Amino acid sequence: MPEMRMKPSRNFLLGLCSMLALGFLYYSSGRISLRGWSNISLYDSQGFLVKLDGSLPLELLYKYGNLSEGACKPGYAAAKMSAIYPKFAKLEPMFLDPNYKRYAKIGDYSPPFGVKSQEKIIDILLSATNNYGLGEELDSMSCKTCIIIGNGGILANKSLGPRIDEVDVVVRLNEAPVKGFEKDVGSKTTMRITYPEGAIQKTERYESQSLFVLSAFKALDLRWLRYMVFNQRLEQLHSTIHLADAFIQSNVHQRRSTDGFWKSVAKHVPREPSDMRILNPYFIQEASFKLIGLPHNNGQMGRGNIPTLGAVAITMALHTCDEVAVAGFGYNMSTPHAPLHYYEKIRMSAIKESWTHNISKEKEFLMKLVKAGVIQDWTNGICGAGC
Ligand SMILES: *[C@@H]1O[C@H](CO)[C@@H](O)[C@H](O)[C@H]1NC(C)=O
Ligand SMILES: *[C@@H]1O[C@H](CO)[C@@H](O)[C@H](O)[C@H]1NC(C)=O
Ligand SMILES: *[C@@H]1O[C@H](CO)[C@@H](O)[C@H](O)[C@H]1NC(C)=O
Ligand SMILES: *[C@@H]1O[C@H](CO)[C@@H](O)[C@H](O)[C@H]1NC(C)=O
Repeated sequence: MPEMRMKPSRNFLLGLCSMLALGFLYYSSGRISLRGWSNISLYDSQGFLVKLDGSLPLELLYKYGNLSEGACKPGYAAAKMSAIYPKFAKLEPMFLDPNYKRYAKIGDYSPPFGVKSQEKIIDILLSATNNYGLGEELDSMSCKTCIIIGNGGILANKSLGPRIDEVDVVVRLNEAPVKGFEKDVGSKTTMRITYPEGAIQKTERYESQSLFVLSAFKALDLRWLRYMVFNQRLEQLHSTIHLADAFIQSNVHQRRSTDGFWKSVAKHVPREPSDMRILNPYFIQEASFKLIGLPHNNGQMGRGNIPTLGAVAITMALHTCDEVAVAGFGYNMSTPHAPLHYYEKIRMSAIKESWTHNISKEKEFLMKLVKAGVIQDWTNGICGAGC
């Protein structure tokens, strides 16, 4: 057994656990193989339990069992997540606040995974917005339910609107419309997470109340936000940005995409600075490198290592909400004629292979969450026929 290195490392302890649990099985079947033992792990390469057992500690079960039917369960999503993913550490603020430089994990990476060398502009933005939470009412709640509304066609004609409106925090993504679709998607919007290319362009389509949350995928996105926060005209910024258009559209070269936008962007966001926020980029970093397991690429944006905004929003919710639901997630490729989005006629078959995202790896991650009951999928598009 020369390949078995006996180092008192975590791996070894883990191996020892597996040995204790499984040793007698091997023994009784007479198939003793030390080589096999050193490879046995209860966890997959991302650190999730292979056998997704999301059972909760007894004391939590008692605590939740005593709550009335349908009441918000404090700490439920994080407890479930920790049960299948022991590395999970809940404490991460939703938005950047003036203490953000103390969040070590984001200081080492440039956008989209961190804030490195963007400190100056972030300081300017934060002093202008001067608000860093969800608002007094939501921040003071001891238990918050959240729902992330994906834009999938699967949301259509399910009349989930009234149920969605009962959730404390309703998160919408990019330009997903509400007006005219209330029956299916609800009318409440607590926040809209977006980036310049995804933001609503027609100012009249913005809700009158909701937080405008930037998820910065590149340094330029923060510069764009500065124009929006200070209500400046965008022409000057535009003259510097055409370089990278070709780059992202052609999806070939692996160059840093800090030069430009990849499609036209909103020129005005009709919200007060006090209603604008910067999403904590830790959620992008964690979703990509840890939870989904996308290529690290030296901490730079590269092929297939950017999580979709939906996965980023779910990661955020796991850290900041007590219960997490989703709706409108999951594309079913075996129904090419079904609508891709709930709000337009484009069909499923229009979806293209993405250069930035890895939809199949991401789906594996989302399936783990649904299967273990960490999140509730109200439209059942993530697991579909079964997980
Ligand atoms: C739950 O209720 C039972 C009986 O009503 C009580 O004995 C128990 O202490 C309660 N547990 C918690 C955690 O409140
Ligand atoms: C929803 O229902 C309307 C009216 O019945 C129909 O035209 C539309 O195609 C349906 N949408 C989906 C996604 O099933
Ligand atoms: C997605 O991940 C799989 C498995 O790691 C890999 O084979 C595939 O090439 C990736 N796709 C993209 C678009 O990066
Ligand atoms: C996709 O749609 C087909 C046809 O309606 C259905 O049989 C299948 O179960 C769906 N798959 C998923 C993953 O939802």
